[in-house]
Amino acid sequence: MPHATPTPDDLRTSLIDRFRMAATTPASERKFPVGPESASRLGHDDAEIDALPTSVTDYFCGVGDPFSPGQPQSGEMVLDLGCGAGFDTLLDARRVGQTGRVIGIDRTPEMAATARRNADRLGSSNVEIVLGETERLPLCDASMDLVISNGVFNLCPDKPRVLAEVFPVLTPGGRLQVDDILLHEDVTPEDVAGEGRWSD
Ligand SMILES: C[S@@+](CC[C@H](N)C(=O)[O-])C[C@H]1O[C@@H](n2cnc3c(N)ncnc32)[C@H](O)[C@@H]1O
Repeated sequence: MPHATPTPDDLRTSLIDRFRMAATTPASERKFPVGPESASRLGHDDAEIDALPTSVTDYFCGVGDPFSPGQPQSGEMVLDLGCGAGFDTLLDARRVGQTGRVIGIDRTPEMAATARRNADRLGSSNVEIVLGETERLPLCDASMDLVISNGVFNLCPDKPRVLAEVFPVLTPGGRLQVDDILLHEDVTPEDVAGEGRWSD
């Protein structure tokens, strides 16, 4: 029997449910690798991973190392789109130092709450965690020197919309550093209709 094509709202709800699970029981995630071993395999520096508490590293569910094209500099303003439990956000916070600032935005309430707790635990007073969506960034134009994103664009049905939100908030010469996944095979209408496969 053919699947009904999910609406953007259906996808949004199912993805929030999925990442609510990842925010509460990350070890139950079976479809993609999570945790410190995955972060290490994807290129993050082992010493930096070890310096973070497990309340951060166990919840890493990114797909790469968004710092590989370049590091944030001291004093910069950085935005982490879909920050999850805060792994990359908190590494950014160390790099930009007290004269810089990092904003992590995530739309899953449990992820945002975990990231906020982690920032408090680490005393990262230069971090702000915002519950919100990449499709509606609550930020001023030309306010961010660097925007990073790790494993989030593939979850956004309307990618041009996300880019249209991101570009204005970058300062002139600002950088966008994205790690994400691409499907190489053709995606059939049946694949799209089977919403469970959206982020598999
Ligand atoms: C694969 S996880 C990656 C989390 C984090 N970047 C990391 O590396 O651990 C994707 C995250 O993006 C969030 N997310 C997905 N779509 C989003 C959207 N449209 N706006 C904001 N956050 C979103 C999810 O709630 C989830 O926390």
